[in-house]
Amino acid sequence: MAPPNSDKIVLASGNQGKIKEIQAILSDYTIAPQQQFNIPEAEETGSTFIENAIIKARNAALHSKLPAIADDSGLIVDALNGAPGVISARYAGAKASDRDNLQKLLDAMCDTPESQRSARFVCVIVFMRHAHDPFPLICQGSWEGSILNHAQGANGFGYDPIFWLASESCSSAELSAPRKNQLSHRGQALRQLAGLL
Ligand code: IMP
Repeated sequence: MAPPNSDKIVLASGNQGKIKEIQAILSDYTIAPQQQFNIPEAEETGSTFIENAIIKARNAALHSKLPAIADDSGLIVDALNGAPGVISARYAGAKASDRDNLQKLLDAMCDTPESQRSARFVCVIVFMRHAHDPFPLICQGSWEGSILNHAQGANGFGYDPIFWLASESCSSAELSAPRKNQLSHRGQALRQLAGLL
């Protein structure tokens, strides 16, 4: 696989946490957030994480003329046929907060028995050498857990306080950031990408 022909890679995200995490793992490259290039946000119209990650990476590469990385992630709950899925960030509405989304999920699961509360966080990371790259690198991570019936823990973000990890005997909001990176869907996908690049 040919390496990227630039040591600068634009990241289709403005999330400081993600920028830091990605820069730390891809330390041979300079990761530049797309805000530096005034890139308009792409509309996430896909029905899969892969489609949405490609849409975002292509948009960032097109406007920056640089190689681009995009990630798309979310929570899949078996008892809800995969919801909230690709709309994890806006499950309770376009302007919903993390707390609103988490509460909507707790309400949707209130009658679901313990044995049927399995769920996973998933992450897709796409790397495109340029906007018309016909063979993007696609990395995927998946992190198994189950949905608690109440929130616990103060770390992380999003659905972390209700994502129970039996192997760690805590929610993902009770993990330290380094431990979460070792285990998480995003950590898995990022390490895969670092290997491929
Ligand atoms: P995005 O990848 O920034 O679009 O994230 C989608 C949504 O999925 C987030 O807003 C969260 O609600 C949820 N999500 C993704 N990864 C995590 C995680 O590691 N912990 C908690 N929630 C997450």
